[in-house]
Amino acid sequence: MIEKINNLLKRVEEFKPNVTTEVEEFRIKILGKKGELTQLMDEFKTIAPELKRELGQKINELKNFTQNRINEMKEEVEAAKQGNESAIDDMTRPGSNDKLGSRHPISIVKNEIIEIFARLGYTVADGPEIEDDWHVFSALNFPPEHPARDMQDTFFVEKNPDILLRTHTSSIQVRTMETQKPPIRVICPGRVFRNEAISYRAHCIFHQIEGLYIDENVSFADMKQSILYFAKECFGDASKIRLRPSYFPFTEPSAEVDVSCNLCNGKGCNVCKGTGWLEIMGCGMVDPNVLEASGIDSKKYSGFAFGMGVERIAMLKFGVKDLRLYFENDVRFLQQFDSSL
Ligand code: DAH
Repeated sequence: MIEKINNLLKRVEEFKPNVTTEVEEFRIKILGKKGELTQLMDEFKTIAPELKRELGQKINELKNFTQNRINEMKEEVEAAKQGNESAIDDMTRPGSNDKLGSRHPISIVKNEIIEIFARLGYTVADGPEIEDDWHVFSALNFPPEHPARDMQDTFFVEKNPDILLRTHTSSIQVRTMETQKPPIRVICPGRVFRNEAISYRAHCIFHQIEGLYIDENVSFADMKQSILYFAKECFGDASKIRLRPSYFPFTEPSAEVDVSCNLCNGKGCNVCKGTGWLEIMGCGMVDPNVLEASGIDSKKYSGFAFGMGVERIAMLKFGVKDLRLYFENDVRFLQQFDSSL
């Protein structure tokens, strides 16, 4: 009989239920009217009186233990059901993962562009988003009333038309030239604001990266080679660039840069609209008026500048067709880009 008691004790100790019904079944099997423990108690009545004391104590212990254990099991299963997993101490169960956020595609591309230019010796410069007319327009050779000011639809502060939200990060070139002596090599990322109707290809807030290089004897060829290096690093080694003549008040000569379409390898597809080329930035040799306005001797120094939209580069790299997606903060969209996850 002692053996039966010990056996039963062992089974109660080892039993691990998954659902409440299993606990109840187990209870009936052991403590029910025809249960194993009930039968043992019946058997106990028939044993020799000299054994009764010792065995009676054992059976009582077993009964109490079994009852307590069954109550505990019920609580554990209930708690586990409500997500309180620590109540079942199964140390082999996989941990629950906390969801990590992912880097925003605009940050990913911005950082990549900064890193590419860092390899050419550029450092990052910063400036305010709320600017004055001087740094956004006048110092960049936009004369007052000049129609070029209409190229960028500006948000002005109502009470003071001299204060505005910067329409481009070219304002940071001015701030850099005012405070640093050449040689200057800076890359200026930042948010810019324009009064545009929001659509799949335009937004009133977007991001630009401006570059500025000023030293003695800086040439157009230096600019072209730096931009080619950037294009190859950013879009792949097979990339080619072409420069088309353009106009910006702050550069002379000015150009628009196209990169060969890496989707069709220049053959022409619907992304490059059959041309084989994608526009990626504006650039040019810094106009001597701009150098002089910021106190740099234009006889001694020359330089180039370029500016690109980060959303545009990210759209081309990731094949995103609607710019508004970058601002909607839908995690299903945002999670697709961060390769470090
Ligand atoms: N600031 C220009 C824009 O927002 C972009 C740009 C073009 C910047 C040519 C430059 C440049 O530095 O040289 O449209």
